[in-house]
Amino acid sequence: MLEKADRYCKLLQELNLKLVKAVDTHLHADHVTGLGELRDRTHCITIMGEQSKADVVSMRVSDGDRVTIEGLALDVLYTPGHTDDSYSYLMGDRVFTGDTLLIRGTGRTDFQNGSARAQYDSIFNRLLKLPEETLVFPAHDYKGDTVSTIGEEKRYNPRLQVKSIDEYVELMGNLNLPNPKLMDVVIPANMHVGLHQDELAKQGLALNAREAIESLGRTDVLLVDLRESSERTKHGTLSGALHAPYPSIDESLKPGGMLREVAAATGRRIVFFCAFGERSAMAVQAAKDAGLANTVHIAGGIDAWKKAGGPVLHG
Ligand SMILES: [Fe+2]
Repeated sequence: MLEKADRYCKLLQELNLKLVKAVDTHLHADHVTGLGELRDRTHCITIMGEQSKADVVSMRVSDGDRVTIEGLALDVLYTPGHTDDSYSYLMGDRVFTGDTLLIRGTGRTDFQNGSARAQYDSIFNRLLKLPEETLVFPAHDYKGDTVSTIGEEKRYNPRLQVKSIDEYVELMGNLNLPNPKLMDVVIPANMHVGLHQDELAKQGLALNAREAIESLGRTDVLLVDLRESSERTKHGTLSGALHAPYPSIDESLKPGGMLREVAAATGRRIVFFCAFGERSAMAVQAAKDAGLANTVHIAGGIDAWKKAGGPVLHG
């Protein structure tokens, strides 16, 4: 939640943690997300599902992907129903269920392309198939509960005591809930969480996709791919690009760091790129802060590059 960003940051500081990735399970209708604010304050990678209507997030995931953070991994489960961009994330003994499965409840399905049918499938055929002792952490709980288990929800969640998908659909269709307060303000706000890449363009620190395609093969340019190995495998990469994942950008840019040394040794201008231009925009800023002024990025990332007809290498 946007208004809790101070609290999150204070906690990170107290626990001496670095926020590397922040995941929104879906586009919320009841509160403004803190995703963009956390990105601005901590330069973390923002993640949502590929169906999300949010304008820009750093990384988009789909079912079966894996989100990795030093020593941790979250398996991505597409669990639509509450919205069509609802995801759950399984991390070992626990699952983060967003608003798909709540404690003694389930997320409403009556707007944002919600579907009670899809939700039944997500809950009964995916989440409830997890081991009963799996801890369930939903996105929120209006009663103040924070954690449950799959077994507990199977037995005591009143919405799950149905005998068929049709019974569930009927139950969800008769809830007659009022729309969330401020929904008309909140949803559009949550669609615009993207980093304002136009600032960099104004400073001459961005190449548009076409300019970037034209620079391909130039010997004074060094393309640097900030994405993770999994994204490169899935979406392809650019010819001649050096791989330097964004989470270790600060180390790569400091004196003695890989990128700094390569840039110094070759005299080439670094052109950062990533999936949608968020990480690369933050990398240009990080390079500037580290005293490397001559870097640029590809606005809109490899997504824009592909849309402009740029060649991509696979495999
Ligand atoms: Fe929600």
